[in-house]
Amino acid sequence: MRVLSGIQPSGRLHIGNYFGAMRQHLQLQSQNEGFYFIADYHAMTSGPKPNDLRQNKLAVAMDYLALGLDTDKTVFWCQSDVPLVTELCWILSCVTPMGLLQRCVSFKDKVAQGMLPNHGLFAYPVLQAADILIFDSQLVPVGADQKQHIEVTRDIAGYFNNTYGETFVMPKDYILESVAVVPGIDGRKMSKSYDNTIEIFEPESSVKKKVMKIVTDSTPVEAPKDPNKCNVFALLKLVASQEELAEWEKKYRQGGTGYGEAKKRLAELLIEYFKPYRQKRAELEKNIDYVNEVLKKGAQRATAVAEKTLKKARIAVGLE
Ligand code: ADP
Ligand code: TRP
Repeated sequence: MRVLSGIQPSGRLHIGNYFGAMRQHLQLQSQNEGFYFIADYHAMTSGPKPNDLRQNKLAVAMDYLALGLDTDKTVFWCQSDVPLVTELCWILSCVTPMGLLQRCVSFKDKVAQGMLPNHGLFAYPVLQAADILIFDSQLVPVGADQKQHIEVTRDIAGYFNNTYGETFVMPKDYILESVAVVPGIDGRKMSKSYDNTIEIFEPESSVKKKVMKIVTDSTPVEAPKDPNKCNVFALLKLVASQEELAEWEKKYRQGGTGYGEAKKRLAELLIEYFKPYRQKRAELEKNIDYVNEVLKKGAQRATAVAEKTLKKARIAVGLE
């Protein structure tokens, strides 16, 4: 099955991205034909500084490669290296009713958070539809927040196919069984936009510092604690073994264990979990040419597929 997903290089990837999305992307590679890309055109909608965008793209590429993206099997590229997708975006724009985009909650949310309502942000779902449809994607694994964008993609594909004849494969969404929302160090959803993240590959000393800062309530050490209301426990769930987690649950409920102790162990476990990948990440950092080469080859493979679909669409609408 052809599986496609994109991730925006809007900052450094964090453990919420990993447990909520990347880990599943990487698992899906073995049984499927993976098409994964770095959505830099999409990241432009939030107006990043040029140098930040440049560096974040490269960092996302190195993160995926270090975490086990298999470049022999999976096609991995940077969105803007296959600009054909913007032509399809235009073609799709011409069958997309304004009302469909006006109903998108992610646009409204982003504007409510203070992002400038530029046209790119409004048209974001059309570009996402082009990403998906140009590669004949069958399955699109995304977080629950993206479900509406996949529905919009299906609507747009439907309008197009009804108007111009069967052209696009109808994709299915695949809502990632997220390990629930991963909390950030301030207790809100961990997100690049809240400055509350623990990055996957930040220095170990800084992982420790951040873990020690995780917000907890003021229950005294001796008192019993509710593990399900604790941000530290929520993160322990991601990295502790079943047995160890059961132990922590007991300690919380019994009382007598402070949050500080749980934090110390959490920092150790997080560092241990990502240790094998850190080595690989450091090697990649010393070999940027290799990383760029991987992305270039990926873009060539992606272009070969995109060209065929775009040609079909161009003929269907009468551009050819
Ligand atoms: P951010 O909020 O940090 O900008 P994105 O919106 O770019 O993250 O999300 C990229 C992917 O990571 C999405 O599939 C999203 O569902 C997942 N993700 C992001 N933050 C979390 C989180 N705190 N918990 C679980 N999954 C997350
Ligand atoms: N909008 C997605 C996100 O913010 C990223 C994305 C862009 C994407 N194009 C896509 C995801 C195509 C899946 C398919 O997470």
